[in-house]
Amino acid sequence: MDRTFVICKPDAVERGLVGEIIDRFERKGLSLVAGELRAIDEATARRHYAEHDGKPFFADLVSFITRGPSFLLVLEGPEETWKVVRTLMGTTNPREAAPGTIRGDLGILLTENLVHGSDSPEAAERETALFFPALHV
Ligand code: RTP
Ligand code: MG
Repeated sequence: MDRTFVICKPDAVERGLVGEIIDRFERKGLSLVAGELRAIDEATARRHYAEHDGKPFFADLVSFITRGPSFLLVLEGPEETWKVVRTLMGTTNPREAAPGTIRGDLGILLTENLVHGSDSPEAAERETALFFPALHV
């Protein structure tokens, strides 16, 4: 089995959409390995989004992801789970995301796009280790 890491971001928690988002992953055939409601601290947010450090939106991204609790998940599927999750999420900008995707159906702002999913097998391993160090992937 293949695992990936997902964040239901603070906007998803605030809007009461965590159940809806998890439901979509489960109905697709992915299984829960770990899940926790947790406020991401600033240092962890900066490490998680290190690839964006130095970009003009980095400060806003860190303050958004730390503004309240997120629901953190590790999901498991038969193969390429990170890619299955990214497909269900839809493209980064919800305004352009296809109907039928989480972002396409539920979001409208680029800065509040509800969900994060690892974008490669390496990112899935790195992010799972960062947020759930007790899990061995
Ligand atoms: P995520 O990492 O959160 O799953 O999103 P993603 O892969 O679809 O998008 P990514 O390129 O990694 O960007 C991370 C988050 O930064 C915000 N963003 N703002 N103002 C801007 O130009 C801009 N570009 C990206 C988005 O909220 C995106 O989810
Ligand atoms: Mg990303």
